[in-house]
Amino acid sequence: FRIAVLASGGGTNLQSIIDQQQCGRLPVDVTLVISNNPGAGALVRAQQAGINTLCINHRNYPNREDFDRELVNALQQADIDLIVLAGFMRILTPVMLQAFPQRIINIHPALLPAFPGLDVQQQAIDYGARFSGCTVHFVDAGVDTGPIIIQAVVPILPDDSAATLAERILEQEHRIYPQAIQWLAEGRVKIEGRNVLIANTSG
Ligand code: GRF
Repeated sequence: FRIAVLASGGGTNLQSIIDQQQCGRLPVDVTLVISNNPGAGALVRAQQAGINTLCINHRNYPNREDFDRELVNALQQADIDLIVLAGFMRILTPVMLQAFPQRIINIHPALLPAFPGLDVQQQAIDYGARFSGCTVHFVDAGVDTGPIIIQAVVPILPDDSAATLAERILEQEHRIYPQAIQWLAEGRVKIEGRNVLIANTSG
């Protein structure tokens, strides 16, 4: 089961996937890591783990569709089964979505459908929410709107800053993202409308 991880930033989620794979708890081949950002820490982490990397800088493309066409080419050449967005800061167009229907997942640092978009830890604090968390979901044409695979809840504490909350949420991200990928690799995930069903292994 060949996965590609797309990341724009530091890549701690990528690292958690690599770590779980390396200790034998995640039955996948992390075939390729792609970043749109030449300075992404995720690229360094991938190289350190001996994973093929590709930088496709969106600034070199006149529009989102042309950028996506380059992504599709690279992902099809690598024969990728699942595309894992991990802090990938680009909105995908139908070019990508139609090339890989139901095969792109994302992680979002809030309890969707609350707080989609950017800067969501600060938004949850400003709103006065008592809990936030993270969500792994399939990617559809909306922003953070696709069917939900798994979520984890964390408390928001009275003296939280966006940074301390983000850190508490990341701990859970590093747990649930590998879990979701494992379910997908085992072929246990079925989408029925908005509902995602996880089949039992024991049966
Ligand atoms: C994570 O909080 C993820 O949920 C969000 O971007 C952040 C990426 O962090 N979409 P990292 O690059 O995996 O450390």
